Amino acid sequence: MTTANRPEPAAPARSDFASDFLWGCATSSYQIEGAGAVDGRVESIWDRFAATPGKVRDGSNGSVACDHYHRWPEDFDIGRDMGLNAYRFSIAWPRIFGEVGGKPNEKGLDFYSRLVDGMLERGLQPWATLYHWDLPQYLQDRGGWAKRETVDAFLEFADAMTRRLGDRVKHWITHNEPWCTAIIGNFEGWHAPGNTDFKTALQVAHHVLLSHGKAVPLIRANVPDAQVGIALSLHPLRAASNQPEDLAAMERHDGLRYRWFLDPLHGRGYPQAILDYIGEAAPTVLPGDLDAIAVETDFLGVNYYFPETIANAPGHAPLDAKVLPPGEVETTAMGWEVSPQGLAELLVRIEQDYHPGPIYITENGSCYEDSVDANGEIEDTGRRHYLMRHLSTLKSAIADGVPVKGYFAWSLLDNFEWAEGYLRRFGLTHIDYDTQQRRLKSSGKWYRSFLRQE
Ligand code: FCB
Repeated sequence: MTTANRPEPAAPARSDFASDFLWGCATSSYQIEGAGAVDGRVESIWDRFAATPGKVRDGSNGSVACDHYHRWPEDFDIGRDMGLNAYRFSIAWPRIFGEVGGKPNEKGLDFYSRLVDGMLERGLQPWATLYHWDLPQYLQDRGGWAKRETVDAFLEFADAMTRRLGDRVKHWITHNEPWCTAIIGNFEGWHAPGNTDFKTALQVAHHVLLSHGKAVPLIRANVPDAQVGIALSLHPLRAASNQPEDLAAMERHDGLRYRWFLDPLHGRGYPQAILDYIGEAAPTVLPGDLDAIAVETDFLGVNYYFPETIANAPGHAPLDAKVLPPGEVETTAMGWEVSPQGLAELLVRIEQDYHPGPIYITENGSCYEDSVDANGEIEDTGRRHYLMRHLSTLKSAIADGVPVKGYFAWSLLDNFEWAEGYLRRFGLTHIDYDTQQRRLKSSGKWYRSFLRQE
């Protein structure tokens, strides 16, 4: 069914949720800030990757993006007027450290300090993500996350940020979507740094998890009342058929996509069945690493977009399994299946498997091809319905006992969508990249009326 002929969904109401529920939008530094060479920022792996012909579909990069670096007061006004009470952002590591062993860059620290003050002035509770994919290129030149020394560099970065912002920022997310950092960036290769080696990817995943585990106590030491967690991208899985081969393929895919991250974070180590399957591609794990990774956290961040259907696929690296394109189902402009029910399935499963404590939806959103009409309006019905339907499902998942405490829509603004460049829009606010004009879309207006209970 296309969006055009879909009936208007039932509207959820804010009063269906707890009064202390957090309502936010999420963004990330490289996707919105621009100001690529300002105030001492150095090159990130995404600058390098985007400069490599053929890597970003429209040949673009994040050097200007939404120019949020200069326009953040206007962006936070939009968030405040929408009625948000929280805002998730990420910190560009290349603004803070320009070299290995260097001193933190005061201008970079000052920028984030001003940003946080700007949030607080507008009633937006700051949720800081330390790593949303923009690794300094000088670290990648030394091997990046495949090298253990990057864990130490991350701890220095985490230390500098929590010392500087910890008096005002109490909510910290160590990493955004380690699966993407590791597997997309280092095995599939269509994200920075563009490596295509499975063993490297698993070593990266291990170091990312280790850096999370080691950062948690450090953040707590610097910010005594800190709430610390990690944000994972997760999908409910379906087998392509009930044939044993497809079911087994789904199990293997699940072992890497879901349990490879959630198991060690919950003290269960890496899934043995996958270790057996991959043999020598297993990462080097030193004594104590798994204990460090299993550190208790204060919440789990869940990024949800769509379910995946898995088929047996002999020879398809790395696990002889592949993700099928969605069949005759409703999809967004990304080709991602629209499945509000998938969100509930996923949440119920996580709760049953791990009881992770409070859960926050740290990202959820949709891409549609927007157009600005003659009156300057953007009628993004598909995105508006996506949001309404996912919030209705969220309400039912909470009623079923999943302790979800907040929701961050992806995204406040249209932005640089990684390998898709500016071709894909996820914002509740439209950006005209020629003029930098911001316009609230009908999805953003609906979120505003929902949040203000109008
Ligand atoms: C997530 C990323 C986010 C954005 C959305 C669409 O995987 O965390 O930066 O690109 O997808």
